Amino acid sequence: MSKDSLTITDNRTGQSYEIPIENGTVRAMDLRKIKVADEDFGLMTYDPAFTNTAPCKSRITFIDGDRGILNYRGYPIEQLAERSSYLETAYLILHGELPTKAQYEAWAHNITHHTIVHENIKELMGAFRYDAHPMGMLMSTVAALSTFYPAAKQIHDPQARRDQTFRLIAKVPTLAAFAHRHSVGMPYAYPDNDLSYCGNFLNMMFKMTELKYKVNPVLERALEVLFILHADHEQNCSTSAMRGVGSSEVDPYSATAAAIAALYGPLHGGANEMVLRMLHQIGSREKVPQFIKDVKQSGGEVRLMGFGHRVYKNYDPRAKIIKRMADQVFQVTGRNPLLEIALELERIALEDDYFVKRKLYPNVDFYSGLIYQAMGFPVDMFPVLFAIPRTSGWLAQWDEMLQDKDQKIARPRQVYLGAAQRDYLPLDARG
Ligand code: ACO
Repeated sequence: MSKDSLTITDNRTGQSYEIPIENGTVRAMDLRKIKVADEDFGLMTYDPAFTNTAPCKSRITFIDGDRGILNYRGYPIEQLAERSSYLETAYLILHGELPTKAQYEAWAHNITHHTIVHENIKELMGAFRYDAHPMGMLMSTVAALSTFYPAAKQIHDPQARRDQTFRLIAKVPTLAAFAHRHSVGMPYAYPDNDLSYCGNFLNMMFKMTELKYKVNPVLERALEVLFILHADHEQNCSTSAMRGVGSSEVDPYSATAAAIAALYGPLHGGANEMVLRMLHQIGSREKVPQFIKDVKQSGGEVRLMGFGHRVYKNYDPRAKIIKRMADQVFQVTGRNPLLEIALELERIALEDDYFVKRKLYPNVDFYSGLIYQAMGFPVDMFPVLFAIPRTSGWLAQWDEMLQDKDQKIARPRQVYLGAAQRDYLPLDARG
């Protein structure tokens, strides 16, 4: 008997089965042969929320949640945050290797020269209400892009996939900035090709009447780091949406719109917005102990936003980097007064039995919102600021899925517990 296998005895029948173990997993389909009678469907696994199911093999991002490790393509996040740029990291995530100088220049050139959006997209944005949430606008306009690029449907053509990848990474910041300008009633600022990816985004967000926007290098670098930290995070909710929707072979704009929808939720990319709202609601440092009490007494209903993670049962390594960076940003922008409340929340929570027992530590969203707010981004824009860099991760995962021979259209099973088959009764015959 092979050592790399699992022997299962079905106590209903007394029969034993040997199931191979590969990469620390057993194939769920191998359980199907476990039956009581020939006509049985066979055994399935029940795994709501996929807490112990790997739907794919991936070579992109590695996380060790217990040790607080995050690597992209083998490179530790700390080294990338310190030494790389967002565009270089996006290249790494998508291609598997850091670019040579020539590869980087071609990559940056291609992204820079795809930043402009069709003028009709502007009109589409004009149709939104003045107070439309920018994440809703981003989601809708990314979906709309699919109608501008019909060739995007050719998902099995590597060149067509590359073209949409440039376009999406390049245009998402433009759409994001336009959504913001719409909500504040300001004219759209067009991309400036002389600036870096992050510098240009700041330009499109904040340019007023000046002829040329002057980028503050500290804020530009802070944005680079925040974008690097958010670029990918393996099979999270929005990435699973990207892969799940993409598995139907729809174009990448539609799949990305689905991923943005998943990211919008307060338990995922909406959490940094919720952190800020929570800090405002707490109001002062003195009220922190009472808030912590409320969280504990609520039985899971009130959550300490920005705390806890499905995978990290340790300090999120991204939160550590962001916390350190906050000081540099606050030297330029002035200290965010909500920082006092956040630090006190963290101090008390990390000593409190409730949080310690459940291994709840600050996640990436706990401090990012404070930095974004200090930089002048409105709270509504926070999930959008997550979606911009995550676009490269979504596309890398989508590309990997399309080339993976094991993958097909995603189609989970269910455990049906509803009514057995019964006959339809006309309305007047029902009791
Ligand atoms: N505050 C208070 N209690 C919490 C929190 C929190 N932030 N997070 C989890 N818990 C508690 C739960 O109530 C539960 O307690 P119980 O065992 O007594 O029932 C226990 O900790 C385990 O929580 P689950 O919800 O089962 O953990 P799960 O892995 O499903 O959830 C999640 C992870 C969604 C991130 C959760 O921790 C949460 O809601 N955090 C707040 C929202 C947030 O910050 N989200 C951002 C995540 S990072 C990202 O998406 C980029």
